This record gives sequence, structure tokens and C-alpha cells, in this order.
Amino acid sequence: MTYPVPWIKIPVRTALAIWYQWTTRTELPELSKVSVLMRQRNKVENTLRAMQHAGPGTLQVISDFDMTLSRFAHHGKRAPTTHNILDHRLLIDEDCACNMRKLLKIYYPIEIDPSLTSEQKIPLMVEWWTKVHHLLIQQKIQRDMLAQAVQESGVILREGYEVFFDRLAELQVPLLIFSAGVGDILEEVVRQSQVFHPNVHVISNYMDFDANGVLRGFKGPLIHTFNKREGALLLAAPLPELRERPNVLLLGDSLGDLAMADGVARPHNLLTVGFLNDQVEERAESYVEAFDIVLVKDESMEVPNALLKFITSGKDAK
Ligand code: TMP
Ligand code: MG
Repeated sequence: MTYPVPWIKIPVRTALAIWYQWTTRTELPELSKVSVLMRQRNKVENTLRAMQHAGPGTLQVISDFDMTLSRFAHHGKRAPTTHNILDHRLLIDEDCACNMRKLLKIYYPIEIDPSLTSEQKIPLMVEWWTKVHHLLIQQKIQRDMLAQAVQESGVILREGYEVFFDRLAELQVPLLIFSAGVGDILEEVVRQSQVFHPNVHVISNYMDFDANGVLRGFKGPLIHTFNKREGALLLAAPLPELRERPNVLLLGDSLGDLAMADGVARPHNLLTVGFLNDQVEERAESYVEAFDIVLVKDESMEVPNALLKFITSGKDAK
């Protein structure tokens, strides 16, 4: 479902560029929707054509998970993130849930605050994730219970996700899901949505269970919203499936997600799509500056699917 974009405060130059993009014909009608903002439509179209010309064999897709592949809201209610799915009495007690919610109330506004720089946010994000993971470890969460918690969570991927995942699998285009959420939960959501195809790779915070299947910690370096560059260099760059693919379609919902492509060795073409879910007025300008395409309050995969169809309908597409 797509909502019309409200009038948002942006500089005149950007407003004119957006007006031009809405009123000019394009090979991709989806880009003329009022919920789509682009600062440089010509650049977007040139990049798309270059990617189409190079063919699907040169393409990789890198996507964030929470609030990018999964929905921000559904039927007017916030949809859960992978961390929030853990808020289930099978896994954690009321006290822990209450503490996690308190932390969310404190730190989420900081995460999305456009007046703070990433450098200012980083120590606070580390604090948030560390506190939450500490709370979770105390709960002795059982691995066997995760699937049921996901099933009963109400988590839902964006409308049209099947087309997105299935087309990438069909064309053997690798999809790297790069998430600061909880990897075990993320995998379960993708599995239960029946789209965990062999081309899907996940980089995330994975739980570490003891021999009895009880949570005892988290594996590897902590990934939060604003250190994805380090994760990209350390964990994504070595993946052999991605190494020889210089064209990247990147999807995210945070400015921190733009760093997910920093591990690509010799990028030729990079097209970035940002879902602007929340605090639209306050953040529109920075999103339009940073992402090639901004989707405002759009809970669907309609535009990413159209981009993908265009890019992969060239010469060596099946
Ligand atoms: P993402 O990288 O897949 O988007 O996952 C990170 C999101 O997780 C980030 O936007 C904030 C969210 N989050 C929660 O909802 N609850 C929490 O307790 C924490 C630590 C993060
Ligand atoms: Mg996200």
C-alpha cells in the first residue's frame, strides 16, 4: 500500500527537481508516484540503464532488514523488529520486556534524530545494543522457542516481497541481508515467509547457545545501525559470491545503511533506495540528499520490484 506524500519542507532546488521528476515521462512509471522522491532523476535513469546493460550476472542486492524488508507498520500499528519479536512470554519475562521497551523509548528517538551526527550517535547505539543483549542473556532464552515466537509475533514483510526474493533467486543474483537486528530471528522470519532461497546471505547479530540450546551470549562483533561500514569490510567483502559483482542495488531505511556497500571492492554502479518511514518532515531533506531514491511511507516493494525488473530485463536475463 502506498500513501500520498504529505507536503514536506525541502529547499526550493530540491522541490523543483522533485516536481520535474513527477511531471516527466519515464520508462519506469513507478518512479512517478508521489511517494517517490529523487534529487537527480537523470542520474538514477543513467545508472539503471548501465546496470541493465551490464546484465544480472554483474548485480548484487544488499538490503537492510528491519523496517526495510520488514514493514514499519501494518493496519495502523507498528510492526515488530527482530529485537521486538523477542518480546514474547515464551522467551523473556515481563520485567525484561518492560526494560527493553524503556530502552527503546530512550534510544530510538536518538537513532533517528536528524540533528545528531553518526559520530554522536555511535556510542549511544553501542550502549543501547549492549544493554539489550545483556538483558536477553539473563533470560536463558531457549533456541527451540524462537520459531513459535516468530510465528505469533505479527511480523510481516513488505507487500510484494515474494516477487523480490523469487526473482533474485531465479536469476541467481545474490541477496545480502545486512542487519543490526537478531540474525536467528531474521532467518526464521525469512524461512517462515518461504523465501530463504540459496542466493540469500545474512550478516547480523547471531545468538550463541550452549550445548543445551540456552542463550549464553552473542557471536562476533556487535553490529548496530551506524557501524555497518566495519561489518561490510570485515564480513561482506570476503564473501566469494559477491566479489565479482560490481553493480549494487542497495535498500535501507537508515542513513547508516548506506555504508552496507562499503565492502564492494570495485563498484561500477551503485543505486541506493531509502525507505523514509518515520519523522518524514524532519528527515526528508537528509534522505533526498543521501539516497538516490526515497520512498515515503511506502509499505510495499513495488518500486524495488520495478527497478529489479528493469535492471534484469536486459540481454542475458532469462
Ligand atoms: P536493521 O539493521 O535490520 O534495521 O536492525 C536494526 C533496528 O533494530 C534499528 O532500527 C533499531 C531496532 N532495534 C529495536 O527495535 N529494538 C532494540 O532493542 C534494538 C537494540 C534495536
Ligand atoms: Mg532498518
